[in-house]
Amino acid sequence: MGNLLAGKRGVIFGALDDQSIAWKVALRCVEEGAKITLTNAPVALRMGKINDLAKQCNTEVIAADATSMEDLENLFTKSQEILGGKLDFVLHSIGMSINVRKKKAYTDTNYDWMHKTFDISAISFHRMMQVLWKQDAMNDWGSILGLTYIAAQRTFPDYGEMAESKALLESFARSFGYHFGESKKVRVNTISQSPTWTTAGSGVKGFDEFFGYADKMSPMGNAPAEACADYCVALFSDLTRFVNMQNLYHDGGFSNMGMSPKVLES
Ligand SMILES: NC(=O)c1ccc[n+]([C@@H]2O[C@H](COP(=O)([O-])OP(=O)(O)OC[C@H]3O[C@@H](n4cnc5c(N)ncnc54)[C@H](O)[C@@H]3O)[C@@H](O)[C@H]2O)c1
Repeated sequence: MGNLLAGKRGVIFGALDDQSIAWKVALRCVEEGAKITLTNAPVALRMGKINDLAKQCNTEVIAADATSMEDLENLFTKSQEILGGKLDFVLHSIGMSINVRKKKAYTDTNYDWMHKTFDISAISFHRMMQVLWKQDAMNDWGSILGLTYIAAQRTFPDYGEMAESKALLESFARSFGYHFGESKKVRVNTISQSPTWTTAGSGVKGFDEFFGYADKMSPMGNAPAEACADYCVALFSDLTRFVNMQNLYHDGGFSNMGMSPKVLES
């Protein structure tokens, strides 16, 4: 399709099936000329679908539990070997809440599960960047991205502890964006995406209504996953080199709306 990412090397976390946002990002990056490796947790690899994506992207899948430093060290070492050099971009597209999955009320949160949720959904972003930092695995002017949701800023009761996970994720982007920006001209940002029909998204109680409400509130409607993939490509490209430490809304205008007549009509 184009060459916005020609000559660039990247690692994409979180493609589970063809609904996953990361799945679409991987395909768009390759279309734009990038070479990538794919990674997901060993349990997700056993589902096998990611191997289909690897074929389409002419690449390999490297198993890594994003909460394991050993796995992450192996992932970035192997990725640089396979791709033939340092990395230009990395996508963190990981989210999972144990309390939400087990339908535990927010007011009755299990703290062991909450710790696990924070580790998987947010601290993994810090872990990943720490390994990249220590291995000096990023090229100058590289780009690191995480996917987030507006529940970090506003209350969506059914989103549970994922709200705090996303707040933490966005804060890690700002803090590491300083260190990476200063030393390597590498930028770190988060994209705050509209509700999207995926395994992680539809795990939230009442997702159907939630999706419909956001769709009506957004002047342009919810941003689809394909458009999110385009935005990721733009942020990995050299056209956005000075965008750093930002939380960037990709939501058709939802985040700046007060009330929409469309919502009142229904
Ligand atoms: N779907 C939405 O409505 C929506 C909206 C805004 C932001 N997001 C964010 O987008 C990102 C991608 O989610 P998605 O909607 O594409 O759903 P998805 O279920 O397709 O992707 C989530 C991924 O996280 C991976 N994962 C879980 N535990 C892991 C671990 N320990 N190590 C490594 N990987 C692990 C899963 O295997 C899966 O591939 C998440 O951060 C999510 O919070 C989603």
